[in-house]
Amino acid sequence: MTLVTSKQLLPIYDKPMIYYSLATLMLAGIREILVITTPKEQEHFKALLGDGAQWGIQFDYAIQPNPEGLAQAFVIAEKFLGGCPSCLVLGDNLLYGDGLSAELKKVAQPAAGATVFGYRVEDPGRYGVITFDSDGCATSIEEKPAQPRSNWAVIGLYFYDETVVERAKGLKRSKRDEYEITDLNRSYLDDGLLRVERLGRGYAWFDAGTHAALLEAGEFVHVLQRRQGHLIASPEEISFSAGWITAADLAKHCERFKNTEYGRKLAALGQGA
Ligand code: G1P
Repeated sequence: MTLVTSKQLLPIYDKPMIYYSLATLMLAGIREILVITTPKEQEHFKALLGDGAQWGIQFDYAIQPNPEGLAQAFVIAEKFLGGCPSCLVLGDNLLYGDGLSAELKKVAQPAAGATVFGYRVEDPGRYGVITFDSDGCATSIEEKPAQPRSNWAVIGLYFYDETVVERAKGLKRSKRDEYEITDLNRSYLDDGLLRVERLGRGYAWFDAGTHAALLEAGEFVHVLQRRQGHLIASPEEISFSAGWITAADLAKHCERFKNTEYGRKLAALGQGA
């Protein structure tokens, strides 16, 4: 499926996968976003996302020359971050739930240390796995352990203070020869600076990184949108609701997509539905 395109450009039902990750950032109130891609795929992301003005936000672009791990993002982004706190979202993660925006905005407030999110799953060995003590404080974090010590996976959304770049620079390559995001999180844990927000059963989280998970995420979006009529992870809707684009801007998007269900749902939004 990804011989000629990037995974994050594949659809989850009616939108490119990357929209779901961008929606998460937008719901957190984040409007300055650096999109890091492979050298080959950058032009496709630029063609899809442009400079962000269509959604009242700003995209910059950077390249990761080789797949050397998620934590390298912070070394690549050093200049873009300019010593500020930051948030990283993986391009294949879908997070959905009532009250999500308020929760994300709370976590996005600058604070010393890092915040990650735990989510209970049946197959924790596929993810970063976190354990807690009886007070709910994190006690260990491991990447894809063969024998997971809990069912709590760390989702692909991370909030860091301004020390993240120096911490990322100090990491060593793992056994699979990558700079691991889990090692970065462990550096905060070892300093007593890792907060973990546990997301309860009212939230849905998918990492669409396998064929089955991609299909399941698509089914989830399909079923919920059909049943409720609301769009999930529509950048147009989020930016319009936040007041980042005007009704006239929204009308242009509606016109562009007018022959699709997506366009009709956006139009209903413009009419206050
Ligand atoms: C990555 C991280 C892992 C995390 C997961 C969430 O794994 O390394 O710690 O739990 O994302 O989606 P990947 O999906 O890149 O294998």
